Amino acid sequence: MSAQSATKGAAAQPPARGFTEPDQVKRYADAKASGNKRVLDIDSVYDPAWMKGARVLVTGANRGIGLSLAKEAARCGAVVVGACRKPSDELAAIENVEIVDGVEVTSSAACEALAESLAGKDPIDVLINNAGYFPDVSDDFTGGLNFEENLKQYDICAVGPLRVTAALVKKGCLRQPGGKVINITSQGGSALWRQVQNANKGGDYGHHMCKAAANMCGVLMAEELRPKGIAVANLHPGFNRTGMTKKYEHIWDIEGAVECEVGAKRVMHEIGRVGLLDSGAPFINCEDGLLIPY
Ligand SMILES: NC(=O)c1ccc[n+]([C@@H]2O[C@H](COP(=O)([O-])OP(=O)(O)OC[C@H]3O[C@@H](n4cnc5c(N)ncnc54)[C@H](OP(=O)(O)O)[C@@H]3O)[C@@H](O)[C@H]2O)c1
Repeated sequence: MSAQSATKGAAAQPPARGFTEPDQVKRYADAKASGNKRVLDIDSVYDPAWMKGARVLVTGANRGIGLSLAKEAARCGAVVVGACRKPSDELAAIENVEIVDGVEVTSSAACEALAESLAGKDPIDVLINNAGYFPDVSDDFTGGLNFEENLKQYDICAVGPLRVTAALVKKGCLRQPGGKVINITSQGGSALWRQVQNANKGGDYGHHMCKAAANMCGVLMAEELRPKGIAVANLHPGFNRTGMTKKYEHIWDIEGAVECEVGAKRVMHEIGRVGLLDSGAPFINCEDGLLIPY
């Protein structure tokens, strides 16, 4: 895999992108009304070419979106490193996946052990920091705050990607130049959008604060890693039907939540489009490929 081919899917110029709609119900209704194929049928635009022969590492690869990203990368010809705390049967069933277990992203030692296990091998072309945590607990003044859970989310979702990326960069495990670091953050990390999505109610402090911090992590890493030729992007994977969002099952249909297989294609499509030419770390909604404001 050459550095050039690692960024094969990236356009010569960064794709022109406008900003997307903050109201999720309206966004999905508009997409259906206008027959937006990018939103409704990712297969109609999907370009997985960049994955062939690329070495792709996914954290939290044992279930949910991470598992689907690992499966999709393998299906499209990537060499997959599935990092997880504990493997699942589904992860182990992927052909040619290299599983690294014990990858607890709140542990520097575990992240360094991951890097150690990769040292001396072909460098990673794309690191996907996917592991995340959003507990089903009350998180507002009315129902009660939970500072322990708040800090745990921050540790996993904001500091986790920094620990993993730093360990890999330090050991020279990420391709230079030509590598990409992808932070799977969330639209919940958009400060501006809180005034729409949390209007007059606030809440979900732990989740939204940690994802805003994860976005900042991505922006700063983009600046630090640009001279090494490594691109960084913050991606909102879209609304996916996973264990994490089971508590929102009642709004899955009206807000256009998709199965992870679809969500993974949307994410992979955008990974192919981002590159060093994007300014800083673009914050992209993988549902429609448009920008979310920080
Ligand atoms: N689903 C959505 O609609 C949605 C929307 C926006 C953003 N996201 C983001 O997308 C990512 C994946 O979400 P998901 O829906 O697939 O969640 P999920 O089904 O709950 O899976 C979470 C994954 O993260 C791993 N993880 C949790 N804590 C960890 C830790 N301390 N160290 C290492 N791994 C850890 C889990 O591993 P274990 O099995 O070991 O717990 C699991 O593999 C997350 O970052 C999430 O915030 C999801």
